[in-house]
Amino acid sequence: MIWKLGIIGGSGLYDLPGLENIRKQAVETPWGAPSGELTLGTLAGTELVFLPRHGPGHRLPPNHINFRANIAALKMAGCTDIVSISACGSLKEELHPGRFVAVDQYIDRTTSRVNSFFEAGCAAHVSVAEPVCSRLAGLAADAAEAAGAPVTRGGTYLAMEGPQFSSRAESALYRSWGCDVIGMTNMPEARLAREAELPYASIAMVTDYDSWNEKEAAVDVPAVLAVMAQNSRIARTSIARLAEMVSDMDRTPSPQGIETALDTAIITAPH
Ligand code: ADE
Repeated sequence: MIWKLGIIGGSGLYDLPGLENIRKQAVETPWGAPSGELTLGTLAGTELVFLPRHGPGHRLPPNHINFRANIAALKMAGCTDIVSISACGSLKEELHPGRFVAVDQYIDRTTSRVNSFFEAGCAAHVSVAEPVCSRLAGLAADAAEAAGAPVTRGGTYLAMEGPQFSSRAESALYRSWGCDVIGMTNMPEARLAREAELPYASIAMVTDYDSWNEKEAAVDVPAVLAVMAQNSRIARTSIARLAEMVSDMDRTPSPQGIETALDTAIITAPH
C-alpha cells in the first residue's frame, strides 16, 4: 500500500512550496467546511494533502477551528496518515526555542471544543492511551533531523483552550505536572484522528518559554512569529524529507492497530 500524507500546517506554515501537480479542492464534510481549501499534490514521489489549520490569512483562532471538518476532509481525501505541524511554548529549560518536539502524550485542558464525531445515538470509546502513531512520529522525527532540526523524541503536550496565553501560575502548574510543551491546537485534533482511524503524529516547534520562566519575557505574538519565521523553513524541508522517505516504503498497517480503532469501541447496541 502507498502512503498519502495529510499535513496540517499551523502558525507560520500556510503552504507547501515544491508541491507538483497541484489541485485545490474546496470541500464540505458532514461536519461542515474545513479551515480552508485542501491543496493536493505530489512531493518527492509521495501524494500529499495540505490543510492550513487556521485558514487563509490565519483568520481562525484555535477555539474557532472546526476540527471535525478538518479531520473528516483529510479522511475523505484518502489520506492514510496525518502529520500535524504547530508552534508551541516550552515548559522545560532544555527545550529551547527552535527545538522540534515529536509529541507522544497529551494533557487536554481545552474546554469549548467539540471533541468527538460520536453524538447522541451512538456511544463509542476509542483508546487514546497512546494518542500518537509511534511509527509515524518516528519517521517525522527522522525527517526533521534530516532537515537539520534539533529534535526531541517524545514529550507531553499540554493542550490549552486559549486564545489568551497562560498566566505564570498556570504555566508553573503545567510544569509541575511534568508537561514539556504547551499549545492550543493539537486537541481535539489528535482524538478525532483516532476516531477517524487515522494514524496521527505531531511535530511541535518551540517558539518561546511560555510564561513560567521569569528570566525570559512572557510569551507574546511578535516573539512567536520571529521564531516561526526560522522554524517554518525547516518544517517545510522536514515534510519534503518525510515524503522522500515514505515514497519507496510499503505502507503496512500501523503497529498500534489505529486503522481498526473503532472495531471494539462502539458500545451502543445495533438498532
Ligand atoms: N503557541 C506558541 N507558543 C505558545 C504558548 N506559549 N502557549 C500556547 N500556545 C503557543
